[in-house]
Amino acid sequence: MYPTFLDAIGNTPLIQVKSHPLKGVVFGKFESFNPGHSSKDRIARQMLGKMEEQGKLKAGGTVVEASSGNTARSLAMICALKGYACVIFTTTKISDEKKKLLELYGASVHICPKEAAPDSPESYYSRAAAFANETPGAVYLNQYYNKFNTEAHYASTGPEIWEQTEGKLTHFVCCAGTGGTISGCARYLKEQNPDIKVIAVDAVGSLLTKYFHTGQIDPGELKPYRLEGVGKNIVPGTLHNEFIDAYVQVSDAESMDRIKPMARKEGLLVGPSGGAILQAFYQWPYKSKPGDFVVCLFPDHGISYLSKL
Ligand SMILES: Cc1ncc(COP(=O)(O)O)c(C=O)c1O
Repeated sequence: MYPTFLDAIGNTPLIQVKSHPLKGVVFGKFESFNPGHSSKDRIARQMLGKMEEQGKLKAGGTVVEASSGNTARSLAMICALKGYACVIFTTTKISDEKKKLLELYGASVHICPKEAAPDSPESYYSRAAAFANETPGAVYLNQYYNKFNTEAHYASTGPEIWEQTEGKLTHFVCCAGTGGTISGCARYLKEQNPDIKVIAVDAVGSLLTKYFHTGQIDPGELKPYRLEGVGKNIVPGTLHNEFIDAYVQVSDAESMDRIKPMARKEGLLVGPSGGAILQAFYQWPYKSKPGDFVVCLFPDHGISYLSKL
């Protein structure tokens, strides 16, 4: 029994998946089992809680965030519970279902052009920051630069994976968006066993893979793509490549095509970023071996994307 849903966040299950060509075993951490149906419940609770602790967010205050959808949903739920106003800036990439859901929880949603350069005043980052500046009692959580994003996964997701596998995992596979999930988990897991290989999944059209290999932030890499939450057009402050061993860059179409076969064969439905993870198994950067024990993280559920699937 929990006093509120906040206490029910985390402890998501690790379930074996068979939809991959690898020689070892693969287990998926299904973050859709969180109350807000995604991994972002963990960071929303942590970032908002820290703002309260630091006295920056007070009763009746306003929480502002730039989000592709899942962080927004988790924040909207927590704001509903705690009586804060919730103002979300997102892009034209957001699915209809996700937008309607935010409004259902009482959040106000502002849609910004997904093509806007990150530093342009029209981008969802700039508009969120400007709105928070102009609004008394408002805090901008800024998940791309908020260390409590990464800390949330270091403190909860990483230890859960280590305990659930009894330390047996050899590889960890995770999408990089803000980089908070992969960086927090990877740091914790490598502290337990530095031999664990950490593989980041990025989207074709994002600049993160080239940045990993060359250290160069190259806007020439950017192309429009539809995968929500995978890859970035900036290098977020919450991405720590020093804990990552390899990057795999996957396409929209191939990622989306991996979702339905797993649903039909195994009854396991994941969102597009989960499809990106499944595609990464087909672009495996290592020699696959029977003794491999692979853990991947599926950030959310496919039910939020029915119009896209
Ligand atoms: C659906 C989805 N998958 C994956 C991610 C990536 O997680 P992270 O931001 O921790 O890198 C996000 C983040 O926005 C997301 O919304």
